[in-house]
Amino acid sequence: MKDKATLEYQGKKFEFPVVEGTEKELAIDIKKLRSTTGMITLDPGYKNTGSCESAITYLDGEKGILRYRGYNIEELAEKADFLEVAYLLIFGELPNKEQLHKFHEDIKHESHVDEEMKKILDAFPKSAHPMGVLSSLTSALIAFNPSSVNITSEKDMYHAIIRIMAKFPVLVAWTMRKQKGLPLDYGDDNLGYVENLHKMMFKRPNKEYVKNKIVIDALDQLLILHADHEQNCSTSTVRITGSSHAGLFVSLSAGISALWGPLHGGANQAVLEMLEAIAADGGDTQKYMNKAKDKNDPFRLMGFGHRVYKNFDPRAKIIKRAADEVLGDLGIEDPILSIAKGLEKVALEDPYFVDRKLYPNVDFYSGIIYRALGIPTEMFTVMFAMGRLPGWIAQWREMRLRGEPIGRPRQVYIGENQRPFVPLNKR
Ligand code: ACO
Repeated sequence: MKDKATLEYQGKKFEFPVVEGTEKELAIDIKKLRSTTGMITLDPGYKNTGSCESAITYLDGEKGILRYRGYNIEELAEKADFLEVAYLLIFGELPNKEQLHKFHEDIKHESHVDEEMKKILDAFPKSAHPMGVLSSLTSALIAFNPSSVNITSEKDMYHAIIRIMAKFPVLVAWTMRKQKGLPLDYGDDNLGYVENLHKMMFKRPNKEYVKNKIVIDALDQLLILHADHEQNCSTSTVRITGSSHAGLFVSLSAGISALWGPLHGGANQAVLEMLEAIAADGGDTQKYMNKAKDKNDPFRLMGFGHRVYKNFDPRAKIIKRAADEVLGDLGIEDPILSIAKGLEKVALEDPYFVDRKLYPNVDFYSGIIYRALGIPTEMFTVMFAMGRLPGWIAQWREMRLRGEPIGRPRQVYIGENQRPFVPLNKR
């Protein structure tokens, strides 16, 4: 017999099934809670709420484990490339040579973006934040491509996925080129997926593009590390938007907006701005640690803490090592890296951070690498979105294929009770 959990309220007992995941995680299935008890659960921020069953990403915040489709992130970051990881996340298995070749060829075939999209981009001021621009462009793609996907057709589904995997890097590159005042360019089908992205971002009008393996490998690894992270804020947004049967592109656009915030993906920009501010202020890390601990000061140590990881974020470990290697290989000495390491050292020994289990997260060191690669600070979260794209697609696809119901939480109303209307002249 399956386990059950019992809820007792006002002398009545109610039983609910206990669900066990493949990694032995337990959950109380409360689908029938309201219909049997008349009550709902209250869980702001969904700290204890599982919104779905998913076979894509496993993470254990206590042990610091992250796996995509069963493969450890450390192994994928070392041995796979971004396109293989994208295929793995979306379709569930690592591709063989033919599958990977076809996936890439299909993507290349769809990598044009309608020229009229340039007019939309043109209308933005140069000062517009790239995340706002990217979200708008992703949404605008619908105007040039059918908005809804027939999810009962595997062919339709595949085609929608290929189209966005192909066009998104172009939008990412154009977003940056617009800000820098560079002509909008296309890639080169002879290049790898990430190399092509890099070329589209950095190719100068009068210079030939020269590949730098250190840069491409670093970028590839960063994209892999950001590719999925189960039901975080932006992914939940993608799933909940798609649950109304809105199309893939708008669901992604909603996810981009959710990612933008400094408590989520926007933290990578916020970290670098914070490190720059500390450097400009004489590099006094202790002063900023004290600010972070002061409950009357809104300052937070950006890049520290995580809703799920209460141990080291495994991605942060890889990125910290990569930051050292990439800066070393490129011969860059960045004082910001020393400030970051100093802050980390102080925080890891400070009871405030130790007691609250606050460790560096994925965003703490990623910005230092992006900066070394010549990517402007305001583009950092756009790079995160580029990496997260396959994860969002995989989660959207899974949600639709499982036929999940529309996402619609309930609430506990705490407002006024019914009262008579007061005419304007009596208020
Ligand atoms: N600096 C100082 N104190 C912090 C920090 C921080 N970065 N993070 C958490 N705390 C403190 C809180 O003040 C709280 O203290 P209290 O118990 O005395 O009230 C305690 O630690 C728990 O923090 P919560 O905010 O309740 O934790 P939650 O899970 O809601 O938030 C979050 C997680 C949003 C990531 C938070 O740690 C934070 O704001 N970090 C900085 C922003 C950041 O780096 N975000 C990127 C996360 S990774 C990603 O999304 C890709």
